[in-house]
Amino acid sequence: MQYKRLAYTSLAALDLSVDQLFDIGQTARDLNALDGVTGLLLFNGTHFLQWVEGAPETVDELMERLRRDQRHSAVEVRETQLANDRLFPDWSMKLVRVRSELIHAHDDVLQALPAGLPDSIRERIAGMVELISVEV
Ligand SMILES: Cc1cc2nc3c(=O)[nH]c(=O)nc-3n(C[C@H](O)[C@H](O)[C@H](O)COP(=O)(O)O)c2cc1C
Repeated sequence: MQYKRLAYTSLAALDLSVDQLFDIGQTARDLNALDGVTGLLLFNGTHFLQWVEGAPETVDELMERLRRDQRHSAVEVRETQLANDRLFPDWSMKLVRVRSELIHAHDDVLQALPAGLPDSIRERIAGMVELISVEV
């Protein structure tokens, strides 16, 4: 089976609450478990960076729902890949809170990634953290 892997960034609503953040994580895990979607959701206090992967049409439908969701805006797709395997087979959606400064965000995300992840993907994800981080 071919999987679509997609990474996007977005800007959280200014008034997003902690409860809403947990709701997003819970909904994502519940629906993704039903839809066969897996992935990783990084939040740094202002921005999201999410990787979603699953059947191509399922990922496309999810992106349509995500674009309508008022809890974030400025959804920009950064990367799409077709692949024969998943990067995050064990995570229906892992929510990782990272610090906003690049140097810390890097450490936070590297610690959270699964041990078996190929180095090339690990580096790509760590590199993508730049998209939502502040340089200090
Ligand atoms: C940052 C963010 C990440 C989300 N991730 C997912 C996800 O991985 N899977 C999912 O089904 N919904 C996710 N959602 C929720 C969807 O936007 C949507 O509310 C949900 O799929 C239900 O669809 P509906 O509101 O059209 O009923 C996310 C929302 C936000 C704001």
